[in-house]
Amino acid sequence: MNAPLTGQPALAFDIDAIRAQFPILSEQVRGGRLAYLDNAATTQKPESVLAAIDDYYRHKNSNVHRAVHDLAERATTAYEGARDRIAQWFKVAREEIVFTRGTTEAINLVAYSFLRPRLQAGDEVLLTGMEHHSNIVPWQLVAKEKGAKIVAAPVLDDGSLDLEGWTALLNERTKFIAVVHVSNSLGTVNPVEQMIAAAKARGIPVLVDGAQSVAHIAIDFPALGADFYTCSAHKAYGPTGFGCLVAKRAILDAMPPWHGGGDMIRTVSFEESTWNEAPYRFEAGTPDMAGAVGFAAALDWIASVGLDAIAAHEHALLLEGTALLAAVPGLRMIGTAKNKGGILAFVMDGGHAQDIGTILDQYGVAVRTGHHCTMPLMARFGVPATVRASLAAYNNREDLEQLAKALHKASRLLA
Ligand code: ALA
Repeated sequence: MNAPLTGQPALAFDIDAIRAQFPILSEQVRGGRLAYLDNAATTQKPESVLAAIDDYYRHKNSNVHRAVHDLAERATTAYEGARDRIAQWFKVAREEIVFTRGTTEAINLVAYSFLRPRLQAGDEVLLTGMEHHSNIVPWQLVAKEKGAKIVAAPVLDDGSLDLEGWTALLNERTKFIAVVHVSNSLGTVNPVEQMIAAAKARGIPVLVDGAQSVAHIAIDFPALGADFYTCSAHKAYGPTGFGCLVAKRAILDAMPPWHGGGDMIRTVSFEESTWNEAPYRFEAGTPDMAGAVGFAAALDWIASVGLDAIAAHEHALLLEGTALLAAVPGLRMIGTAKNKGGILAFVMDGGHAQDIGTILDQYGVAVRTGHHCTMPLMARFGVPATVRASLAAYNNREDLEQLAKALHKASRLLA
């Protein structure tokens, strides 16, 4: 990914050794080789993550924070140990990590617990035209209830944000800003540092949707300066149904609970209940312990390869893939921003994205087709859907060649 690098030492990048750690990559699909290029939807899991989850259930499984028996201690140690690892990843205190089911739940938590009590009629929530539905709808639900307004900044023809247009939309009514770090549909890397600085100058809180950035760009949350950062483990080689909200401690301490239930309380009576401290106040019910353990193992896996090395590898593949796709007759890329992650999204003359996806599948190429949960962005580009190939650390040149070969075949079929 063409993104700020982290200064971590780039270890030797042995793509064959990396691929060998992902058992699913040797699955045969449609009777042949799998080219898995649907990583923005979800990544595959390395042996170390599978082993960590397996080990948790075989040797540690119990409930957390509740009992004194040995297994309960093991489960709690594993779960809270994962919180320490994840906090270390984002360079924050453990109290600043709230476990959620993923990015979507993390955004909803901020919308309902942080923004809803603060929002008034006439206020504005500033988004961009390239947000995922999960970074639109929660704000919309809260804004509708309060008589506030959603405002979306324009996207330029190359898929980059119109930063001037975005800046012009900042005003005294802007009460909250949410922005995707890396667009899932275009790959655009947004200038979040500049945007956060502009927001801070006006005292406006900012949430960065990191669903597509966590596995590609190092996040130093304090240095980033955002108030909230959200991510999903499954897009970073971890398990599905798990993620977190990273937020400043003072902000979390001032936020009321959202979901009620066990573990989020200090005392309960029929008259009144009092709340546990953050982050537990936001983690009602038995949590996903194996999810936490799996996410921590996934971050360890990324660290073992080196985020810089992964970013450089993906960027090289992006350039190569872009060149290969440019040679396919009738293909038009959607999203050509200069600062772009490993997303190759396109449309083709004579065929709906769905048809192209179906043809690609016949050749073992797994891509996503559709609106990618960004319907306003599709409308902006005047297309109902795109085909999207998205890259991860384990993709190789063969995957791209398989994609390109299948697209040449599709182009001949559609002509
Ligand atoms: N948000 C995921 C994607 O972009 C599901 O495919």
